[in-house]
Amino acid sequence: MNEFVDRILISEEEIDKITTRIAAEIDRDYKNSEKRLVLVCILKGSIVFMGDLMKKITLPVEIDCMKVSSYGRGTESSGTVHIHLDLLRPDLEDCNLLIIEDIIDSGITLSYLVKYLENKGAHNVKTCTLLDKPSRRKVEFVPDYCGTVIPDEFVIGYGLDYDERFRALPYVGILKPEVYSSLGE
Ligand code: IMP
Ligand code: MG
Repeated sequence: MNEFVDRILISEEEIDKITTRIAAEIDRDYKNSEKRLVLVCILKGSIVFMGDLMKKITLPVEIDCMKVSSYGRGTESSGTVHIHLDLLRPDLEDCNLLIIEDIIDSGITLSYLVKYLENKGAHNVKTCTLLDKPSRRKVEFVPDYCGTVIPDEFVIGYGLDYDERFRALPYVGILKPEVYSSLGE
C-alpha cells in the first residue's frame, strides 16, 4: 500500500463490481432511446472511472470531455465553478448526455454543470458518480447513478488526487491527515 494512504476504502475488486453494475443500469435505461448516448468525462478525476465504465457498456456510446474546477489547492471547494474546457458539439439536441464524475462533495460542480448543459440545449442530461459524500452537501443534489456512498473522509486514487498526486493508485484510499497538514493547511 502507498505510504500516504491511511487505509483502502474501496478495493480494485469492489470497484470492478461497481462499474459492472452501473454499466448494466445504463444499458437498461438507455436502450430504447433514439438519441446519441454521450458520456461526458469530467477531467481529470473521472478519467479512470470513465475508462473502465465505457468498456462495460454494450450500447453504442460516444465520449467527450469537459474540464472544470471548483477546488483550489487543498481539500475544500472554492464554491465557484470554472469551465476550462467546454463541450463543443453542434448536435446537443440529439444527445443524451451522461456526466461522469469521480466524486460528489458539496454538490456545487454537478448542480452547476447539469443546468449549464441543459441551457446549452442537450436533449437530456443525467449524472453518474463513482463516489458520493452526501454529508458534505452545500447544495441539494442527487445523482442518477452512484457507485457508493462514502463517509466524510478525503479520498485519493483511481483518478482522484490530492494536489495532483495519487491519481494512478488502482484503489480508492483515505489520505493520511498528516499529508495535508504537512502541505500547509
Ligand atoms: P463538489 O463541487 O464539491 O461536489 O466537488 C466535486 C469535486 O471535488 C470532485 O470532482 C473532486 O475533483 C473534488 N473532490 C471532492 N472530494 C474529494 C476527495 O475526497 N478527494 C479528491 N477530490 C475530491
Ligand atoms: Mg473532479
